[in-house]
Amino acid sequence: MARPKKSASTIAPLPERRSAHELGKGSTGISVTLVRSVPSSATAVAVPAFADRLGKVEGVRKAVLDRAGFGGQPGQSMLLDDGVQARVVIGMGAFAEVSTDSVRRAGAAFVRALGGHRKAAFELPSALAIDESAVVGALAEGLMLAGYRFDAYRSQPPRGGLDAVSIVVADPRAARAALAHATAVANGVTFARNLVNEPGGSLTPAAFAEVITERGSSSGLTVEVLDLAAITAAGLGGIVAVNKGSVHEPRLVHLTYEPDGGADLGEDGEPITVALVGKGITFDSGGLSLKTADGMMDMKCDMAGAAAVVGAMCALAELGVSVRVESWTPLSDNMTGGDAQRPGDIYTARNGRTVEVLNTDAEGRLVLADALALATETSPAAVIDLATLTGACMVALGDKIAGLLGNNADLISKVSTAAATAGERVWHLPLPADYRSLLDSSIADLKNIGSRFGGTLTAGLFLQEFVANDVPWVHLDIAGPAFASAADGENPKGGTGFGVRTLISLLEAFGRDGEELGD
Ligand code: BES
Ligand code: MN
Ligand code: ZN
Repeated sequence: MARPKKSASTIAPLPERRSAHELGKGSTGISVTLVRSVPSSATAVAVPAFADRLGKVEGVRKAVLDRAGFGGQPGQSMLLDDGVQARVVIGMGAFAEVSTDSVRRAGAAFVRALGGHRKAAFELPSALAIDESAVVGALAEGLMLAGYRFDAYRSQPPRGGLDAVSIVVADPRAARAALAHATAVANGVTFARNLVNEPGGSLTPAAFAEVITERGSSSGLTVEVLDLAAITAAGLGGIVAVNKGSVHEPRLVHLTYEPDGGADLGEDGEPITVALVGKGITFDSGGLSLKTADGMMDMKCDMAGAAAVVGAMCALAELGVSVRVESWTPLSDNMTGGDAQRPGDIYTARNGRTVEVLNTDAEGRLVLADALALATETSPAAVIDLATLTGACMVALGDKIAGLLGNNADLISKVSTAAATAGERVWHLPLPADYRSLLDSSIADLKNIGSRFGGTLTAGLFLQEFVANDVPWVHLDIAGPAFASAADGENPKGGTGFGVRTLISLLEAFGRDGEELGD
């Protein structure tokens, strides 16, 4: 039989497509500006409505609101479009109870109600219970955060949609700083969301580290990246163990922020340093303790802790934060390759402890343990870690509230206050000392899982073993709020950037108060 002639493919090569997007970018946002009066380009305007003043809503009769069931609650909206200039009635809550939270929600509700309008305006009501720059800041945040879209992977980026919102204020100059602050915060959140929304197969640890390196250096941070050889040499056994089942090398990214003009000094005359740690599992299959198909669905989000940490870090210079900040983000995926760690395997962590890995799906605590040990070796004033750590935390608190655990009452209250100020929800959970024995291993120092119950607490107790020098420490379990199954308030479906706002608010407070923590 004659052999077929070898010939060039008859299939025409594809013409060049538009270049692939840059990882960590690829979202569309809206621009927010300050103006003195409604611009003529605005095809839609907000009409703020207070729950206890529904009779005084400009140009809308109360009967119309009543009929539509509109009660003026924060987040409620009602679109009235006559084809000339649309009006969106926006619930603000009771007049005397207006807060940054309700204003942020009002801004988000406005964006979500706007449909196809490209230019819109929001005139601020005067004489509110909180000062105008706080209102402008919260409104701008709500607008920008809700205006986020991730279009990087669409072959045809959707046309149209909201493009710009003008905030109408009596004195735009006086509100400029508040808008700049909100913009810096929103940029940090956007960066974190973009990273979380990237698929696990695209954002490998090496690619993630490159994105951080580029964005970090252009944000004025010092960047150090450890590859597998350096991670191994540093004795970071947990990162190595988790990475064994992967074809992608791990990374550990260490960022340093030095305030312009020197950091605030503590009582000992040393610069006050706060350390941040973020779980960066770029995809969590569970490893050999394999997850179900359903359980794996959103597991590209398992690096949301790292994303929040670097999102916040990249905003610090712009915000002029005055404490020194270091961050440690271990990056790896958790896969099932031929040399994946086996249930029962034992490794030695950075602090010398041996760990028996009885469930390879409890991998986050292994990479965090090394990063926490490293971060606390130099005795920073505080360390805060963020991690999508346990499904149990979602069972306990649902998908909108993060668990907060820690070893220092002062720091716990500082982080809780920062979260409340920033409009992110956290709830304090205990670290019961007598539960620690649930982590006793029969042959090593520690095993990596507890019993069937209290999974968030035993995960926290595991991490606590690696915090050195009695450094005040808080752990935020963000498994629930890191990733939204549907748009809600200022959060789109997908990565939320949860934690960026809390961290920024906390670091600003550290700078303002300067004081060191008590026990
Ligand atoms: N990344 C998961 C936790 C998670 C679950 C985050 C759902 C976001 C949504 C973590 O690595 C994990 O698998 N934890 C296990 C721990 C268990 C094996 C002790 C869990 O929660 O099931
Ligand atoms: Mn896991
Ligand atoms: Zn995980």
